[in-house]
Amino acid sequence: MGRTLCLRSRPSGELAVGDFEVTESKLPALADGDVLVRNLWLSIDPSVRIRLAESTPRGYSAPFGLGEPLVGLALGTVEESRSPDFHVGQIVSHMYGLRDFAVVRPGSSIGGYGELSAVESSDYPIEWNLGPLGSSGLTAYAGLSAILEIQPGDVVWVSAAAGAVGSIAAQLASLRGCTVIGSAGSDAKVAHLLDDFGLDAAFNYRNGPVADSLAAAAPTGIDKYFDSVGAEHLVAAIDAMRPGGRIAMCGAIADYDAAQSPSGPQNLFQLVSKGIRIEGFRAGSFNHLAPAMREEVGSHLEAGRMTFAETVFDGLEQAPQAMVDMLHGRHGGKTLCRLV
Ligand SMILES: NC(=O)c1ccc[n+]([C@@H]2O[C@H](COP(=O)([O-])OP(=O)(O)OC[C@H]3O[C@@H](n4cnc5c(N)ncnc54)[C@H](OP(=O)(O)O)[C@@H]3O)[C@@H](O)[C@H]2O)c1
Repeated sequence: MGRTLCLRSRPSGELAVGDFEVTESKLPALADGDVLVRNLWLSIDPSVRIRLAESTPRGYSAPFGLGEPLVGLALGTVEESRSPDFHVGQIVSHMYGLRDFAVVRPGSSIGGYGELSAVESSDYPIEWNLGPLGSSGLTAYAGLSAILEIQPGDVVWVSAAAGAVGSIAAQLASLRGCTVIGSAGSDAKVAHLLDDFGLDAAFNYRNGPVADSLAAAAPTGIDKYFDSVGAEHLVAAIDAMRPGGRIAMCGAIADYDAAQSPSGPQNLFQLVSKGIRIEGFRAGSFNHLAPAMREEVGSHLEAGRMTFAETVFDGLEQAPQAMVDMLHGRHGGKTLCRLV
């Protein structure tokens, strides 16, 4: 038998712990090529929240159905294998998380990411393969390198900078010689951005209008914006952007828990007047950058030039609380659920 997290009731507005339930069901028999994985670490990702809604944005993965097992990125160990490419005891990453056991068919992925793959053994904590050396790191790296094409001297704003993706993006931009402004939702997180990440400026977006806080942190404007938030943050970035600036649209978390569809920014004509480029992306389109990301981020972590925080919840029953807390920004760094 396996235990799986399912959607019990569809949230309209703020997600609640009671919107989920853990159900038990018989695991399917393994077909040729399948692998049975015992999950050890579950990634708690904002993308799951998008798929809990009645409908999802065009081009995105379909909504989860009521009672349907949820999926998410995970790390686990192979318990049984009918694939020549995977052996018992091997540590693997895959997309059938949010459950304790998973029958995984090699080749399936979420938005191009999360295909069943062997995790290279290393001295790093294994769960970093979901965080700084996994999807969070790749998202940060792709956004900075392939979308923003940051250069030394650029003034870069990273929102949600104390979170999983943002903390890598902010530190990497700083290590590459940019002037970096970070924003986050508490004074303690702002102190973390300044003291532990060494950012040039930081602000708590809850302390006043985002545009005012950004203007104080970057009085001469910004060249690049790594956007994880959307809404008021995105409007402020467009207003503060210097001519020729770029925006990488990584996510829009301010909208995920909203009961109503968000309205778009009213200042988009500045894209014309200032020649600003805005580009959305998904990390899964940049899997080819994973080795370079692991090399660069790994070397900074190993040398202590970069730090990475985690918030760990224990047991599948805690996954709903982990999801709600992550969306509310109650903790920092990468949110994970440990099943060992
Ligand atoms: N494009 C991709 O391939 C890709 C991949 C992974 C993630 N993402 C996106 O990247 C973003 C961050 O994901 P993550 O996994 O790194 O999560 P995370 O940053 O670890 O957690 C989410 C954070 O968002 C912040 N937040 C929540 N509501 C907010 C609001 N209304 N305004 C401003 N900040 C808010 C909270 O921090 P505060 O305390 O600062 O509010 C919270 O800690 C999300 O938008 C996600 O969808 C995109």
